[in-house]
Amino acid sequence: VQWSDSERKTIASVWSKINVDEIGPQTLARVLVVYPWTQRYFGAFGDLSCASAIMGNPKVSEHGKTVLKALEKAVKNVDDIKTTYAKLSQLHCEKLNVDPDNFKLLADCLSIVIATNFGPAFNPSVQSTWQKLLSVVVAALTSRYF
Ligand code: HEM
Repeated sequence: VQWSDSERKTIASVWSKINVDEIGPQTLARVLVVYPWTQRYFGAFGDLSCASAIMGNPKVSEHGKTVLKALEKAVKNVDDIKTTYAKLSQLHCEKLNVDPDNFKLLADCLSIVIATNFGPAFNPSVQSTWQKLLSVVVAALTSRYF
């Protein structure tokens, strides 16, 4: 994957405006509410019985922060995302048995959460660069499944 200077700037700029402690919990909660089958992987997280339970669940929040912190590794290593996520891909595949289709769903929820938080600043050209990053992330997380 090639990144232009302007794409690199856009990614750094979006990331600088992301508050991991807010965006992370909102993103994971949104995945669990909108795509309820994803709840099956989080059986140890306690009450996920309705949207408000999910959004107020401290384990969901904590894990949402973990996921976004992992995303920082992609932002900081845009030229080698595949190697950066090799171990994480293996973990999701072999140990957690997460269906890789779910990575795309999480990526889409992240874009929606960013859009709701950023408003008009997340314009179509910013979004297109951000989606490009997320599609490379999704491909890297899926790479060890095959
Ligand atoms: C654990 C990142 C998507 C399910 C983790 C961990 C990280 C992570 C960093 C902790 C790994 C460790 O303990 O060493 C990511 C990233 C994702 C992603 C960057 C996408 C951008 C998903 C999706 C699901 C999922 C879509 C399921 C729908 C899990 C589960 C755990 C986990 C069940 C273990 C949680 C626990 O019991 O503590 N993930 N993940 N992940 N992930 Fe993901």
